[in-house]
Amino acid sequence: MTLPFDGAISAFFENDAPEEIRNTLKRADKDEILSSSYPYSEEMKKKAYQKEMDALQIELVKMQRWAKATGQRVAMVFEGRDAAGKGGTIKRFRENLNPRGARVVALSKPSDTEATQWYFQRYIDHLPAGGEIVFYDRSWYNRGVVEKVFDFCTEAQREHFFAQVVEFEKMLVEEGIRVFKFWLNVGRAEQLRRFMDRERDPLKQWKLSWIDVEGLKKWDAYSAAISETLSRSHCPEAPWTVIRSDDKKRARLAAIRHVLSHLDYENKDEKAVGATDTKIAGGPELWE
Ligand code: ADP
Ligand code: AMP
Ligand code: MLT
Repeated sequence: MTLPFDGAISAFFENDAPEEIRNTLKRADKDEILSSSYPYSEEMKKKAYQKEMDALQIELVKMQRWAKATGQRVAMVFEGRDAAGKGGTIKRFRENLNPRGARVVALSKPSDTEATQWYFQRYIDHLPAGGEIVFYDRSWYNRGVVEKVFDFCTEAQREHFFAQVVEFEKMLVEEGIRVFKFWLNVGRAEQLRRFMDRERDPLKQWKLSWIDVEGLKKWDAYSAAISETLSRSHCPEAPWTVIRSDDKKRARLAAIRHVLSHLDYENKDEKAVGATDTKIAGGPELWE
């Protein structure tokens, strides 16, 4: 079987990955958390996860019922490096929701026409109507990060974006849209582990792109762009929630909990929603 991108991911692992990352990956057990600053040494156990997730799923269904009944508009933005777990987290949110009213927006790169429009325009097209929950799998924050790292926009365009983004989000919030911004934070060794997994697994190969392969060499450029983006777009009206995503299970629970605890839906079971694990979810200070 030929590997996608001619095995560029495993070649990077063998030849170019920092020594420390390679060694970490070589000696790691399957369930071991690879980033040394992660607050737990092992992944959450499946059984405990399932129990908490099952309870949260019921709460999500109640939340959607309330959103529909009262015409709420909810927009969630999922950001993070490639393989941070954005798609998987969104999938868990939507698992038991009525798909009519819980839409995913995953836009590809701007078309020639879109490139001439106001940068926010094509995202605005997909904002929620009454009763809808919209999940943005990547968002206008492309301009802060991937477009910077790959030179897809000019510095002037990026500055213009930063000059507008906070005002733009304030407008959404003033309009009555509930805005949640998640930054999923994955460590370097864990990201590489997921990429290698995607390279080997025929069912996951579609998730790999040219950007992922080239991005491997640009870890530090990404870090700089992310750090700047978080600090320039964190505001009281639309704050970032950073989620440590080296353990996907804890990350998914934390994201769902965060949303449920911030919405005042009917028949909320506070115990099922539970408390935020502040070691896993918090503000930009959690990003590193
Ligand atoms: P994903 O991780 O969402 O599967 P990629 O890693 O391939 O996708 O790309 C990351 C992001 O960069 C995507 O949102 C994509 O639309 C965007 N992108 C890719 N090429 C360009 C481009 N030429 N100009 C602007 N954005 C781009
Ligand atoms: P692909 O490898 O075709 O999956 O490409 C991933 C994304 O990167 C696509 O959106 C491409 O259009 C884009 N892309 C590939 N090469 C370049 C390039 N040299 N400059 C800008 N965008 C590119
Ligand atoms: C993710 O895992 O963060 C997303 O599904 C997107 C990706 O990395 O390709």
